[in-house]
Amino acid sequence: MKANIAVIRGDGIGPEIVEEALKVLCKVGKLYNHTFTFTPVVAGGCAIDQYGEPLPQSSLQACLDSDSVLLGAVGGPKWDGLAGDLRPERALLGIRKELQLFANLRPARLFPALKEASPLKDQVTDRGIDFLIVRELTGGLYFGERGYEEQDGVLSAYDRLTYSEPEIERIGRVAFETARKRRKKLHSVDKANVIETSRLWRKTMHRLKEEYPDVEYHDILVDNTAMQLVKDPSQFDVLVTENMFGDILSDEASMLTGSIGLIPSASLGTGTRGMYEPIHGSAPDIAGTGKANPLGTILAAAMMLRLSFGLSKEADAVEAAVGAVIEDGWRTADLGGENPVSCSRMGSLVAEYLSER
Ligand code: NAD
Ligand code: IPM
Ligand code: MN
Repeated sequence: MKANIAVIRGDGIGPEIVEEALKVLCKVGKLYNHTFTFTPVVAGGCAIDQYGEPLPQSSLQACLDSDSVLLGAVGGPKWDGLAGDLRPERALLGIRKELQLFANLRPARLFPALKEASPLKDQVTDRGIDFLIVRELTGGLYFGERGYEEQDGVLSAYDRLTYSEPEIERIGRVAFETARKRRKKLHSVDKANVIETSRLWRKTMHRLKEEYPDVEYHDILVDNTAMQLVKDPSQFDVLVTENMFGDILSDEASMLTGSIGLIPSASLGTGTRGMYEPIHGSAPDIAGTGKANPLGTILAAAMMLRLSFGLSKEADAVEAAVGAVIEDGWRTADLGGENPVSCSRMGSLVAEYLSER
């Protein structure tokens, strides 16, 4: 097949980790006879420096014209002083919104060989960790009306949290359908004991669950979820939640598996085009040191192969190569161990293991 991939390297470790994912995609192309064209797209802090805005129209258009988008990370202290709408992170939000990528899938899986990298005790990790967070991505606090108001000399800021029934229903359907293809268990995460949007969320999920009697359904409050994830993550298969809760819980989930550098994500809409990225940020503290773990980005590329291009065999092969590299003891610095390898070496290893399959 032929595919045009918009490539956003972004800021901080973004360019380093994307390079490794491209290495792996090139190897997949060679081994399986596919032509991947990589269109570089400038977005984030580097676009602010170059064009004065985080997501120039031409960059957005390049994403719209692509078959899928691969993104490293955006942001960094250099741009932290800018007003909200001018920050690098706006690029991400703009692409999610404009491409209508409302469903964000964040799988957390513990590779057995990485048990010692997880901060959890053996008795917990022995039960296995393999769950998926389905995060709503184009609604909630991230996109609500916001602003400042001043009354009697007192300054306040506000961010409006709204969810409509159709918004909840469409992410709910993605979650139920996804659970059907996995272990058929779904936890809907909310704060229905306090906030109104969560009460509508829960009511909508309850209506939907009647259509999916084969899926075991649970409501769970978000604070309890944060605790249960540490106590016994093996109880979870699919979790579905709103934008902000999903952001927070997925960083927590990543660490259970050993490092935030391991977790990929797919942002999907109704068509086949998606955006694929690791869940972590631009890690300014290690940028340029070669310490970044590229596996989350490589696994995101595998998700792109499977979910946007229908290349399951190729995606399986990339995931198997990552598994084998880890099984053989190769580690980047974040995973611990004696002799960590660099970001670039890790990418090369995955590409080499692919050809040896
Ligand atoms: P972060 O995820 O960048 O880093 C948190 C910690 O995890 C740091 O210690 C970092 O070194 C480490 N880490 C992250 N990715 C790693 C990897 N691949 N390998 C090894 N270690 C890794 O979060 P932060 O420090 O809170 O945010 C930094 C910047 O990134 C901020 O500007 C934030 O807005 C932005 N951000 C961007 C995205 C994105 O582009 N998708 C996501 C999250 C944060
Ligand atoms: C993520 C990031 C983004 C989010 C930021 C950078 C806008 O943290 O993808 O998890 O909060 O969605
Ligand atoms: Mn996040």
